[in-house]
Amino acid sequence: PTMKLSVSWRASAAAVVAAATLLTSGSIAGAAPDVEAAAAPDIPVANVKAHLTQLQSIAKANGGNRAHGRPGYKASLDYVKAKLDAAGYTTAIQQFTSGGRTGYNLIADWPGGDTNQVVMAGSHLDSVSSGPGINDNGSGSSAVLETALAVSRAGYQPTKHLRFAWWGAEELGLVGSRYYVNNLSSANRAKISGYLNFDMIGSPNPGYFVYDDDPAIEKTFKDYYAGLGVATEIETEGDGRSDHAPFKSAGVPVGGLFTGASRTKTAAQAAKWGGTSGQSFDRCYHSSCDTTSNINDTALDRNSDAVAYAVWELSE
Ligand code: TRP
Ligand code: CA
Ligand code: ZN
Repeated sequence: PTMKLSVSWRASAAAVVAAATLLTSGSIAGAAPDVEAAAAPDIPVANVKAHLTQLQSIAKANGGNRAHGRPGYKASLDYVKAKLDAAGYTTAIQQFTSGGRTGYNLIADWPGGDTNQVVMAGSHLDSVSSGPGINDNGSGSSAVLETALAVSRAGYQPTKHLRFAWWGAEELGLVGSRYYVNNLSSANRAKISGYLNFDMIGSPNPGYFVYDDDPAIEKTFKDYYAGLGVATEIETEGDGRSDHAPFKSAGVPVGGLFTGASRTKTAAQAAKWGGTSGQSFDRCYHSSCDTTSNINDTALDRNSDAVAYAVWELSE
């Protein structure tokens, strides 16, 4: 009889050791394991929300925001970096100057994989100065962080190389991400097989928008949502208004998710997604009420799982 290993066996280092022990001990002699690609894990939304709570505390302790050039930004970056360092990432802080103040990008590489094929996922970590920036963009920042931590927990060793990024000064005009792209050599730029962007993915009156960019990345997100039976629409609320734009301009395939900002949800959208028609997707966009109360947990959960799904699918 052939032994079919479950799709999740590769995700556990202990299971790998156990399987190897079985194989070398000969107790399943002749049975070739049917190794399937590791499935993406379900990202615990409670973990993502715990990061949001920490980001809100950081804002509260630092004048109410996490904006570029303010202490709340660097404290946010230190929080994310400490989690990644403890999980085994190779982290680097990239400094730049904007508006006479120092800004920072955080880049985290997961050791292993083919560094000639890099899959990147990123989010801006800065808020506007008027509020704590929990949906914009604690949501994307926390989902990407929790996905990176899930990679570590799973001991995931994809074929491609994984890199995660948290950008500074997006709210000043995509400054950090543009700085990163401009400072890549053309050889290193060519090694990035895709950049996935997550900016505002837990809007309180959510829509489910997928960027209409690289077809393979777009299909990955649409497949995930099709599996949930949730309809998506193409993102149109200001194409090029987030950190994927510098990558796209440099010829890197890009994609991403978005749950809507100040635009109004239509009756048709409320019919398929629930929520309130005639109201903004995010009434607290760029204001002081963009707190942990300004999050739809279902949207945050679905999109966090979608981040992990895409990272796994596109890197294996
Ligand atoms: N980037 C904008 C911000 O941070 C938000 C935004 C508006 C957006 N339109 C978008 C993000 C479309 C992604 C896609 O304020
Ligand atoms: Ca989940
Ligand atoms: Zn944003």
